[in-house]
Amino acid sequence: MSCQSLIILLLGSGGREHALAWKLSQSPLVHHVYCVPGNGGTASTPKCTNHSDLPSPEKVSSFPALVSFAQRHGVNFLVPGPEAPLVAGVVDYFEQHAPGVRCFGPKSDAARMEGSKTFAKDFMRKHAIPTAKYQNFSSHASAKQYLETVDHPVVIKASGLAGGKGVIIPSSKDEAQEALTDIMLKSEFGAAGEEVVIEEFLEGNEISILSFSDGITIKSLPPAQDHKRIGDGDTGGNTGGMGAYAPCPSSVVSQAQMEEIERTVLRPTIKGMEDEGYPFRGVLFTGLMMATSGPCVLEYNVRFGDPEVQTLLPLLAPETDLAQVLYACTDHTLSSVQVSITNDVAATVVVAAGGYPSSYPKGTPMKLKDIPEDVQVFHAGTAVDVEGKLKTSGGRVIAATATGKTLKEAVEKAYGGVKAIEFEGMYYRRDIAARALN
Ligand SMILES: Nc1ncnc2c1ncn2[C@@H]1O[C@H](COP(=O)(O)OP(=O)(O)O)[C@@H](O)[C@H]1O
Ligand SMILES: [Mg+2]
Repeated sequence: MSCQSLIILLLGSGGREHALAWKLSQSPLVHHVYCVPGNGGTASTPKCTNHSDLPSPEKVSSFPALVSFAQRHGVNFLVPGPEAPLVAGVVDYFEQHAPGVRCFGPKSDAARMEGSKTFAKDFMRKHAIPTAKYQNFSSHASAKQYLETVDHPVVIKASGLAGGKGVIIPSSKDEAQEALTDIMLKSEFGAAGEEVVIEEFLEGNEISILSFSDGITIKSLPPAQDHKRIGDGDTGGNTGGMGAYAPCPSSVVSQAQMEEIERTVLRPTIKGMEDEGYPFRGVLFTGLMMATSGPCVLEYNVRFGDPEVQTLLPLLAPETDLAQVLYACTDHTLSSVQVSITNDVAATVVVAAGGYPSSYPKGTPMKLKDIPEDVQVFHAGTAVDVEGKLKTSGGRVIAATATGKTLKEAVEKAYGGVKAIEFEGMYYRRDIAARALN
């Protein structure tokens, strides 16, 4: 099969999936994108249709229905957005039951790099990839004892998938012990907390790097910076991400540091995975702390992340075709495909429902009016109801992305885009990229 007429099955319903659908639909290689389930944004994207009647793609029990849907609709390319189906083996399942469908994403053995933080940490130790000092535990008693002996601030991580909530940064030993009890004895994160990583707390600037790989070649997008906390000045609870910008200025990551990351982290990761017999095909998302000792890996994700992807896709140069890049990752031809970036800077501001990341209302009517031409609005938690009206359906509802010649211009334009969004209780951070701008 060549990638001449791609009929894509795109799994997921977030801002990431709208951004992917938006970019993929622009490719002349793409004939149609079936979004399962999709959201209010993919519903009105050219070449895209939503299919919310299928069972949730997150679960193994849904895989047979997805394969049968793919076969009925002539799908030849699978693009899973979220981590859960990848970790659960959706790629393995399709390779076995629908061999005519190419899959962009790692098989379950490679997806352990995200699905198990203990696994990822041991991989990094074995391959000498810089990361915070740590120990893994599966018994509460030994974790408790270890915690009593360490003399540095720690971070406590539930090993399994916890929807971005499984990491605790305690401010005292007592709080750390409490977190261990909650995770390991009270099963706060269910099976995800059966194992924990206790690692050294690192200080510094955090960055995200998204890299395409076909298992051997690696091509990275410029470093992006997310804003994880809900409140201005990085205060309040952790979220899925409230805004991002890219590329990071050299005060955050210099060219030399970027080369160091390539040399000490990205290439050894892809090489190590190949050597271990679970090559990585897909997009590797490496979260790094620019610590005083140098760049350190905080975690790997095995898929695109938002809001980074909303910020990075608009930076792809016109001659770079995302569909071709994704396809090249599945047939070992990434080395022959250009991944070019414009000289622009991009910024994304996420608009959330009031109350998020705690409880928040759903089903609030929304209006989008006079969206500036140079702003791209990416839906996340939105849905179109039976009457065709747009409503909120999640915590992070929608985002505005803009590019500019400078970071300042991109940020101003993105905030201009936020003005076009209207719903009761909407909330957004006012300081996206503020630190980089100062
Ligand atoms: N060793 C560390 N030192 C300081 N902060 C950390 C450390 N590990 C994680 N964090 C913080 O916790 C957040 C979540 O941790 P991460 O490992 O990315 O897990 P997940 O995204 O699965 O919740 C990170 O974005 C970072 O802000
Ligand atoms: Mg993370």
